[in-house]
Amino acid sequence: MVKATFHILGSSKPLSGNIEVYGAKNDILKGLASVLLTSGDITYKNIPKIEDVDRTIELLGSLGVLTKEKGARSLVLNAARINGHTLKRDIAEQIRASIVLAGPLLARSGKVRFPYPGGCVLGKRPIDLFVHGWRAMGARMRMIGDEYEFSAKHLHGADITFYKVSVTGTEAMMLTAVLAHGTTILRNSALEPEIPHLAEFLNSLGARITGAGTPTISIEGTGGKLLSGAGTFVTLPDRIEAGSFAALVAARGGKVKIINCDPEQLAVPIEILREIGAVVTVGKDFIIVERKVKLKSIDMIKTREYPGFPTDLQAPFTVLLTQAHGASLVFETIFEGRLSYIDDLNRMGAYITACDPHRILVSGPTELHGRLMESPDIRAGLAFIIAAAIAKGQSILDGVYKIDRGYEDIEKRLRSIGVDIERKKS
Ligand code: EPU
Repeated sequence: MVKATFHILGSSKPLSGNIEVYGAKNDILKGLASVLLTSGDITYKNIPKIEDVDRTIELLGSLGVLTKEKGARSLVLNAARINGHTLKRDIAEQIRASIVLAGPLLARSGKVRFPYPGGCVLGKRPIDLFVHGWRAMGARMRMIGDEYEFSAKHLHGADITFYKVSVTGTEAMMLTAVLAHGTTILRNSALEPEIPHLAEFLNSLGARITGAGTPTISIEGTGGKLLSGAGTFVTLPDRIEAGSFAALVAARGGKVKIINCDPEQLAVPIEILREIGAVVTVGKDFIIVERKVKLKSIDMIKTREYPGFPTDLQAPFTVLLTQAHGASLVFETIFEGRLSYIDDLNRMGAYITACDPHRILVSGPTELHGRLMESPDIRAGLAFIIAAAIAKGQSILDGVYKIDRGYEDIEKRLRSIGVDIERKKS
């Protein structure tokens, strides 16, 4: 990890050109975890070159998974032989998605040990749904120091109801159930597009999953037999990246074509952009965002599980609302600690009031001024880049590695549409 800062010179000059969306972090990480259920060669395509992917591959490597490069953005992994059941602490502690590796490892090896999974600090991020699910499938849990160990000779199918909708919870239980004995039913499952994508991929290797993409998923386990076919996982385009680019263009003005994305997965954010005055044209795999008139506020943006407005777009859209005429309410319902970045925006000149830990009122339009900031997490980090790109003067953004965890070459792509941003080693 090379320490770096972003130097961003804000402007009101309209943005123009095309910007490409890369593969989604939250899709590829689960695709990589599924290699542990297989014995054949798995080809991964459209892999974003980001920290979280590198660390996950390192984690898999430490378990004995073999990796071969196969051209740009493509790798072949093979997990025919693995040699451990412990997730390396220093890596697993950094990445929330590391917990998704634990299920397949438990199902395959009968045992898994891991530390409390890390990731962005967004308030409490409990793992009770995972614990409940694995126990329901027959695993025993014990703590070794502050690490978790789950063991089970044979995991059996179970009827599991999530008391709360969870993306990685759904994915982890789906992955675990693939090798279990008997049928698992997951109720109140998350609907995010990464979930049916993962199920389709696993089914292409011989798994038997139905209902992914609906609240009730059924998985017929193989009874411990690894999936054996060779397969290909093509990473979905990152809907959060696409939505953030759209917010940037609407906030700064201009006309930009966002290419290689799936507009269908962004139906609600696109509707909000239109509602506040941006012109959005949608094609099969692109979005054109144009801002011609003044932006107007919106009654409320409320984050919700898919297909609702994604919590990962909450911060970029809050920055956008600082440029809209009137007051807009932003209601974060998924995470409790995901609004703390507003203090920095206020120091830039925004006028945002916290109503309670989940709701803020954004009054606009306000002129933002460049300043020194630190990226709090992946998504708010990109929101700060957007704020800096529309501010007067220069901003220096520290904590760039947090942005690198989720976005590849972000500065290169933003420069191509007219943002004055430079990475400097520090
Ligand atoms: N929750 C529990 N218990 C659990 C698990 C979750 O109470 O055992 C709670 C969470 O604290 C939260 C709610 O359930 O309040 C929903 O969280 P969820 O489990 O869906 O989040 P996640 O799976 O940990 C994934 C993404 C996040 C994204 C959320 C919501 C990955 C690796 N992460 O997290 O992405 O914000 O879903 O869509 O897929 C990011 O990429 O920057 C990021 C944070």
